[in-house]
Formats: sequence, structure tokens, C-alpha cells
Amino acid sequence: MVDNPHNANSLPHHVAVIMDGNGRWARQRGEDRVYGHAHGVESVRAIVREAGELGVEYLTLYAFSTENWSRPQAEINALMELLVDSLAGEVQELVKKGVRLRSTGAIDSLPESCREALKDVEDQTAGCTGITLILALSYSGRWELTEAVRSIVRSGTPAEDIDEQTLRDHMNLPDVPDPELLIRTSGEQRLSNFLLWQLAYSELHFTSVMWPDFREDHFRAAIHEFRGRERRFGRTGEQLTQNADDASNH
Ligand code: FPP
Repeated sequence: MVDNPHNANSLPHHVAVIMDGNGRWARQRGEDRVYGHAHGVESVRAIVREAGELGVEYLTLYAFSTENWSRPQAEINALMELLVDSLAGEVQELVKKGVRLRSTGAIDSLPESCREALKDVEDQTAGCTGITLILALSYSGRWELTEAVRSIVRSGTPAEDIDEQTLRDHMNLPDVPDPELLIRTSGEQRLSNFLLWQLAYSELHFTSVMWPDFREDHFRAAIHEFRGRERRFGRTGEQLTQNADDASNH
């Protein structure tokens, strides 16, 4: 289902973020890439807090892509360690703030320490009713679509019965609405295999700010820009005006 375009000026329910630029930020300071990731965790903390306070319902962060497995093993280990430490260190704060943690991706391929830390925080925050923070880990959009197709074939659904809703139902988190806004930091302007199905109609916000420098003000600026944009979903401006007139006459 396509969102109501009359919500054009409202807050996005779901924001997705490609947190990019940690490595370059560190190199600019003559430091190791891992130093950038460690500072990136500060940005994660700030943005989760800010998004929750603004009333955003879902925040999905691209924390580790399928492609990231080809990075040097030392960097992969450091990232996994950072994840485990952050999850363990933040769980009380997440519960206190009502943040529910969920994850998407090939979670089985993560080290055991990571899987356990994730499960522990997911369990502890399962009853939280504030923002839902979704960590995309060992994730790629093509992987998710491939898994969805496999799952449909296994279910024995006849080809003629398969429609968009069938695919949606077989994606990782079918109950989560599509992101209305995607933010990517560090000046790159690509989707990099992130949420390919779910981003079909999303507004895209690219900023040159590196992820470790991305803070509350930058997030609010992205939301502000989103609220000022007209979302057409393939319709003409005249059709939107007509729809708005019809809606205001009811
Ligand atoms: C991209 O920067 C960033 C990542 C691959 C990892 C992002 C992970 C974190 C910020 C830590 C996650 C922790 C939690 C708690 C979610 P890059 O290394 O690709 O930067 P570059 O493009 O400058 O090389």
C-alpha cells in the first residue's frame, strides 16, 4: 500500500540510515579505521535518542553489510566487538528510554558472542513501546529478496497467486512499514544494496557529513527537508492538489 500523500508534511514513521564515512573520518585524523567506528557509536547513541524524542517509530541502521565481510579480518573483529560491547553497555538505557531492539540480516552468520548479545537485548527490550531500533547486520537487499523468493517457493504458493503483498509477507520484518526517508552520510550517493524493496518510494537525503560527526542537528535538518518535500508516488502535481481538495471537502 502506498502512504497517503497528504502526510507529506508529517514526521516520517520510519527512517533508514546508511552510516558511512567512519574510515575516512579516522584517516583524516591519522587514526586507524576502527577509531572511526568507535566514534560512530556516539552518533548512533545521539540519533537513537533524538529520533525517539521526535516521535519517529522505526529507525533502521545499516551496521554491517554482506559486502563488509570482505574487509580485513581485524576490522571485522573490531566491529563485532564494538557491537557486543555497545549492546551490553546500552541495554539498561534502552529499556529506560523504551527503545525496542530488533535486527534484520543473516544473523546466523554472525559470531556467537554477537548473536547472544543481540538476542539478550532483543529479549530484554521486547516489551518496550517507544521507538524500534532495527540493526541491519550481515544484511543486503538482494540477499533479503533472494531469501523471500526461496521462502515463497518452499511455501508452495502457485505462481499466479504471487503478488507484491506475497513478497512483502516473506520479507524479514513484514510488520514494519517502509522507510519514508533514507539518510546517507559522507557524500556518497548510492543505495549500496540496502533495503532495495522497502526504499522504492523513499525520499533520499544525502549529506557530506561523516557519520562520526553526524549529530542531532543533522538529523533534524534531514527531517525538516523531508517535511518540506512533496511526495507524489508517481502522481502528477495536479492529481495531488485534486486529492487534497477532495480530502478537505470530506
Ligand atoms: C561505514 O563506514 C560504517 C560501517 C561499515 C559500520 C558502521 C558501524 C558502526 C557505526 C558501529 C555500529 C554499532 C552499533 C551499536 C550499531 P566506512 O568504514 O565504510 O567508512 P569509509 O567509507 O570512510 O571507509
